[in-house]
Amino acid sequence: MGAAPLIAVVRWARAALATGAAALELDVPDPDQAGGAAPGALRDDGAVQRDWRAWCDLAEELRCRIHTPAALPDGGVRLRLTPLGPEARWHGGAAGRERYAEAAGFGAVRKLEHPGFLLPLLAALERVRPPDRGRVLVLGCHRGDEIEALGWLEPPPSELEVVGVDHAAGPLAEARSRFGGARFLEHDVNELPADLGRFHLAIAIDVLQGPQVDDKLVLRRLVQRHLLPSGRLVLGLPNSRFRGGEVVWGARTRNYREPDLSLVVRDLAAHRRYLQQHGFVTHVGGRYDLLLCACRRARPGA
Ligand SMILES: C[S@@+](CC[C@H](N)C(=O)[O-])C[C@H]1O[C@@H](n2cnc3c(N)ncnc32)[C@H](O)[C@@H]1O
Repeated sequence: MGAAPLIAVVRWARAALATGAAALELDVPDPDQAGGAAPGALRDDGAVQRDWRAWCDLAEELRCRIHTPAALPDGGVRLRLTPLGPEARWHGGAAGRERYAEAAGFGAVRKLEHPGFLLPLLAALERVRPPDRGRVLVLGCHRGDEIEALGWLEPPPSELEVVGVDHAAGPLAEARSRFGGARFLEHDVNELPADLGRFHLAIAIDVLQGPQVDDKLVLRRLVQRHLLPSGRLVLGLPNSRFRGGEVVWGARTRNYREPDLSLVVRDLAAHRRYLQQHGFVTHVGGRYDLLLCACRRARPGA
């Protein structure tokens, strides 16, 4: 496969997977031996030089896991790809309160241990950084990962007053044991208690598109009832799915095999438009979660 153009590799791999192959093996030039060659450059021996990211991207596009490669005596490497298997059950499960509560399901996911989640999240939190002693509201807080990430800002904002809201009791119990200083409410985000007060920062990651959530209503109420005049927001919409224990880029609409970003783009654009109309400057970043940050536009003379 070393000399084959990428399109030939892709067609070979797809044909093999379509016939139910349990694994694909490709012998290719060692990506570490590129010696500064441009990606895809032809080497003197006629083989195509590709970098590790290219092989990882190929595996992801084929919905495969890429295994630790084996070194070959000729200086090349043997890559092994195996199908990832079906999507995690929580993506399509019943729309119950405990959909994300199963300890062995979403409860076992550690997004903060994946660079594609962690680094964009930290960048977003830095953009909307709350002040010391600020009030922070976290909707759909689950086991409290966003609270943990706030503590990893450098320097971390001190003495934050954090309120986490989720309707699933199990993850909330875990959040309570992790963050003794925060307050957690078992509550529906559509009907936040009126006496919650106003916050310097509201965070809602991967909750607004939930089947039981009226996203526009929740955003409107956040802005009108729960943010201080200088209050900021970070909203996250999922742009990934979990398959066989790995995260795969791209939102997917029910009943479609291929990623389709139509809904996430539509919702993101609607939230961004609403926030801009209400005096916020916005920024969109992220990778596996798309992250919309919103800060109040400074008033002239303020
Ligand atoms: C996909 S998880 C996201 C958890 C966390 N924010 C993260 O990004 O890792 C969605 C969370 O929102 C909660 N949730 C969904 N709909 C809700 C609702 N109507 N009211 C309160 N919590 C809700 C779920 O229980 C779950 O903990």
